Amino acid sequence: MPIIWRESMAIGHPTIDSQHKYLFCLVNAVELALQVDNPAKVTAFYLDQLIEYTRIHFEDEEKIQIVIQYPQHNEHKTQHREIIENLEDLKARLLPKSANGDVAEEARLERVCSKTLEDVVGFLRHWILDHVLHTDIHMKPYLKRQKVDPTRNNPILRGR
Ligand SMILES: [Fe+2]
Repeated sequence: MPIIWRESMAIGHPTIDSQHKYLFCLVNAVELALQVDNPAKVTAFYLDQLIEYTRIHFEDEEKIQIVIQYPQHNEHKTQHREIIENLEDLKARLLPKSANGDVAEEARLERVCSKTLEDVVGFLRHWILDHVLHTDIHMKPYLKRQKVDPTRNNPILRGR
């Protein structure tokens, strides 16, 4: 079942909100990839895209926080780094493995892989929802406090 972005999840910044929507799409894409044959390889491909886009999103978010003088900027940045490390760790565990023709080893790897893929689903759902609903939402009052349109005449804040 896909996760759906809702208006109540908006933090009130066009760039961040639109990037969050796209992150939801990418998480859903990873989950759909799990349903194909040879899911580890395909899932790793989509996970790569998710990691790449997450990096872009975190960079933009951190720049915006500096502009709005967000007081939790450093803690937020540390969390971003940890999330990227966890995503990279998941990707490393999904890299194709070879049993070199050993049937028993093949079956064992298959079980390990299925378990890893289940972890991927749980982890991704948890991190994206936690990131949007519990972490980024705290930026909302600081963005609201801006007296002018934060995207106006400001290339950092303009949507990508
Ligand atoms: Fe975010």
